[in-house]
Amino acid sequence: MIHPLISKRRSPVLFSGRSISREDLIDIFEAARWAPSSNNQQPWRYIIATRETPDEHSGLLSCLSEGNILWAKFAPVLGISIAESISTYKNRKNRFARHDVGLSMAFLIIQAMSSGIYTHVMGGFDPELAIESLSIPERFEPVAMFALGYPAENVMEFPRDLIDREKKERSRKNISEILYYGKWQRSYNI
Ligand SMILES: Cc1cc2nc3c(=O)[nH]c(=O)nc-3n(C[C@H](O)[C@H](O)[C@H](O)COP(=O)(O)O)c2cc1C
Repeated sequence: MIHPLISKRRSPVLFSGRSISREDLIDIFEAARWAPSSNNQQPWRYIIATRETPDEHSGLLSCLSEGNILWAKFAPVLGISIAESISTYKNRKNRFARHDVGLSMAFLIIQAMSSGIYTHVMGGFDPELAIESLSIPERFEPVAMFALGYPAENVMEFPRDLIDREKKERSRKNISEILYYGKWQRSYNI
């Protein structure tokens, strides 16, 4: 049995109008802070904005692709993950930077789930625009954007195509397609 925080997780497109408390947001980013990282370099950085500050929220929203804006505009919190791509102790590329940002995101996602808050990660955004409009300095690169929020209760308030997307069945590769034993493509016999 996998943990319910993992089995219940999904990426919603229908968010309720309920805002996320400051306490919950701090817990979520505390969890992100405690992820493991290569040489403990902690290359992750996050910029977030809530709908309570419309200028900042729309600043993040406008970095997204049109298709993502359609639903992400309803999310009470938007964010972007950023990697410090140059190693802090040897002035060369940290080849694990994006890996470690992804790990930190995973911690964030699971912590959020423990408070009933869902995350939808988005690669559909303009990194150049994000660097420019969010003042992201050199050495750092945008990785992904994300929406955080509670799932909508009243789904009928939303456009039909979004409702259909929300209801679409989720799928995954079979475990035998992703797990090998000892060498490439040798079955673990499961
Ligand atoms: C790096 C990354 C980029 C993604 N980009 C988008 C995106 O631009 N728009 C979108 O609607 N979903 C995006 N997703 C969400 C995936 O489509 C989703 O995680 C996948 O279909 C599995 O569905 P589930 O998260 O509900 O299990 C992205 C997810 C990840 C991890």
